[in-house]
Amino acid sequence: MAKEKSIYVCAQCGNDSPKWVGRCPVCGAWNSYAEQVVRKETVGQAHRVRVAAGLGEGQSRPQTFSEIETGSEVRIDLHDQELNRVLGGGLVPGSLVLLGGEPGIGKSTLVLQTVLGMTDRRILYVSGEESPRQLKLRSERIEHTPSEQCLILCETSLEQIYTHVKNVRPELLIIDSIQTISTEVADSSPGSITQVRECAASILKFAKESNTPVILIGHINKEGMIAGPKVLEHIVDTVLQFEGDQQYMYRILRSIKNRFGSTAELGIYEMRQNGLRQVSNPSELLLSSEHEGMSGVAVACTIEGVRPFLIETQALVSTAVYGTPQRSSTGFDTRRMNMLLAVLEKRVGFKLAQKDVFLNIAGGLRVKDPAIDLAVITAILSSNMDAPVECGLCMAGEVGLSGEIRPVNRIEQRIAEAEKLGFSTIIVPKHNLQGVDTSKWNIRIEPVRKVEEAFRLIFG
Ligand code: TYD
Ligand code: MG
Repeated sequence: MAKEKSIYVCAQCGNDSPKWVGRCPVCGAWNSYAEQVVRKETVGQAHRVRVAAGLGEGQSRPQTFSEIETGSEVRIDLHDQELNRVLGGGLVPGSLVLLGGEPGIGKSTLVLQTVLGMTDRRILYVSGEESPRQLKLRSERIEHTPSEQCLILCETSLEQIYTHVKNVRPELLIIDSIQTISTEVADSSPGSITQVRECAASILKFAKESNTPVILIGHINKEGMIAGPKVLEHIVDTVLQFEGDQQYMYRILRSIKNRFGSTAELGIYEMRQNGLRQVSNPSELLLSSEHEGMSGVAVACTIEGVRPFLIETQALVSTAVYGTPQRSSTGFDTRRMNMLLAVLEKRVGFKLAQKDVFLNIAGGLRVKDPAIDLAVITAILSSNMDAPVECGLCMAGEVGLSGEIRPVNRIEQRIAEAEKLGFSTIIVPKHNLQGVDTSKWNIRIEPVRKVEEAFRLIFG
């Protein structure tokens, strides 16, 4: 409940007092006190809001932008190019970063490997999940000479962690993971929403007040809904997500939210026996993949949620054995596929009355983004003609009923992603390029207006 209360504030110097005074005890001005009504909110709520806004405990007052001092912005170099870039040029002092990902994806490995490489700063690595012995074994596995500046603490009580932080005065604090830490303030069990939120709010306050950057590690499950990262996203400054397939060895680091940089950046790593290796040229991974020279495969540049993805679309077209041809798709709406097949028949003259068509989106993904349409029909046509699509080519575009390629949203992000992943050409809807400066990318951009145009471009 919010309570209303009056205070008196000096118009000259901003000093306040609970009672009206004739002469300001601070600046000596006469009759300068005016009444102000303030709302006193419940402590927890108000505190969280203030802290989340980075205001700390001190008094705040309205001010103009010119009054606010920023100083020159310094960034802490993490000695990891991918990580630095995803953070927007390094770690900002006093920022709170959340690194989320599914269990076993390599979050602890990434952070441990980074801190061991930062020999120039005092770091406290708090682990609530592993014993010092396990951490030592891991550090030996990733073959880093142990840095004397990095201290390990295995502890789960937040109050105890603060005691050690006071003694060590680290320049960077790591908490692995937020779900294992608990505070005495809340009595629910570690990992519950209340505990996670209270701990994170308290750590945020610590980060802002001491100007120490903190990296929190948090687990998320497939739905991303478990207590943890989702409830924290609005509290922290930056949310990084580490993702990848357990089957494949590469991992992608994305920024989902960043108060200090762009969220379009991504970093790529490869999980090796001896830790994570930065992949600065991702095409080495993509172009070596097995679909080279195979027909029926096209790469689409889609966006799911806020993140761009390059997805392989596979199609198989064969002569129907039975009277009624089969149409089946996995990961894509079958009715939409039928509509696209009708467009193909009408516009490209693709005779499908006697053909079975199977469609599959690789990786078990379900795609709703209409920008995948162009890749779907390219894959179908490629399989039908048994003509492979050139490697290094990807596309984005919605297909309309009259065979026109309709514009898609966030084209710049898609182009940047395709470029980053090492593609050499991207086919995009012509309408999308109006007012877009294409010279900033190093990827060939081919605008198309109609499906026929796209096919002439792809298959010659
Ligand atoms: P880990 O960092 O423990 O994951 P998280 O903290 O996200 O739960 O990574 C665990 C996986 O990484 C495990 O399956 C083994 C693998 N791994 C390697 O392949 N090479 C290595 O050098 C290390 C340290 C781990
Ligand atoms: Mg871990």
